Amino acid sequence: MISYGKHHIDEDDIQAVVDVLRSGMLTQGLAVEAFEQAIAKYTGATYAVAVSSGTAALHLAALAAGVGPGKALVTTPITFVASANAALYVGGRVIFADIDPDTINMSLESLKQTLAKNPDVRALMPVHFAGLPCGMLAIKSIADKAGVVVIEDAAHALGATYPNGQRVGSCAYSLMTIFSFHPVKAIAAGEGGMITTNDEATYRKLLRLRSHGINKSDDPFQLPEQAETNGVRNPWYYEMQELGFHYRITDIQCGLALSQFKKLDRFIARRRALVKKYDEAFAGIRNCRPAQAMGRDQSGHHLYVLRIDFDSIGLNRGQLMQELRSRDIGSQVHYIPVPAQPHYRMLGFNPEEYPNAQSYYQEGLSIPLFYDLTDEQQNDVISAFKELVG
Ligand SMILES: Cc1ncc(COP(=O)(O)O)c(C=O)c1O
Repeated sequence: MISYGKHHIDEDDIQAVVDVLRSGMLTQGLAVEAFEQAIAKYTGATYAVAVSSGTAALHLAALAAGVGPGKALVTTPITFVASANAALYVGGRVIFADIDPDTINMSLESLKQTLAKNPDVRALMPVHFAGLPCGMLAIKSIADKAGVVVIEDAAHALGATYPNGQRVGSCAYSLMTIFSFHPVKAIAAGEGGMITTNDEATYRKLLRLRSHGINKSDDPFQLPEQAETNGVRNPWYYEMQELGFHYRITDIQCGLALSQFKKLDRFIARRRALVKKYDEAFAGIRNCRPAQAMGRDQSGHHLYVLRIDFDSIGLNRGQLMQELRSRDIGSQVHYIPVPAQPHYRMLGFNPEEYPNAQSYYQEGLSIPLFYDLTDEQQNDVISAFKELVG
């Protein structure tokens, strides 16, 4: 079975994990810091904070951005539920701005209208869907005018670049950027996430929030009289200065992630080549087209999504997925619009209010895209589409 996405593990990765297991430190050792430094250097951000998942990264980012009771976060309906949930975790409100049908990223027009109607917005969370960077220059200018902060959800976009060549994660247009290292993503840690930022106060807050709210780095003590005896620092003393979480990542995970990171450029190059071949092939197949036909040299290429005219092919989406499955080809839908989820409907959301997201949802299907997909397997996928769709 060819799945829609899959990690690549080789002997180097296995050895890297074994090395950590032999190092004497399973968590809070050198691999976490080394991985943070590698991602900071690669993206060009000043600081990076590794956490236990992309979802944990989103939660901490929402908190550090000041989303909370009475404050809203704007994101896109076409994302994984975790992006929107981050606002709910911190007691804030979520607002969805509809997508641009050409990029499947948040529409700038819709974003502007949303901001004009909602004075309680504290943060924007654009999602670089499938790895295609959003128009961050414009988003930053909209955010600056509205006095709100930007958190980039780059769970799909490690290795992607903005049009000026800067890497996603540099935070050139945002306060924070988050990544995920779940196995289907660009590099795998098993589970894992990262937040990058250029703001020192935000960095220090994230360090505390990741570990129970306990003071980190050289954060000053709030109760210095408890911290010292006769002017000498009490060696056992620490302070919980705010309510944080246990969102630390282990050295075992970071050992794997660091080893994977060394292969990132190779991973992206292969994904890009596969995408270009799909693009060429689908240009000649009726009734379907790539959902994002631009930015092929900028995208992180997390997913290859087709838009399929199901009315014309005589199969509905479930039937097509079944036909593909019977040929050992996996496919998936990314995503059911978040406002259509029962929990969000219960909160009063109505998916019909996002017509571009709805029409994309009717047609979208992600097909196999991952480093180990062979030319032969890709040809099989293309042939299946010629037969079933074209
Ligand atoms: C857009 C987006 N944001 C956030 C996440 C959450 O990442 P994680 O699975 O590492 O918690 C995902 C995961 O699939 C995602 O696709």
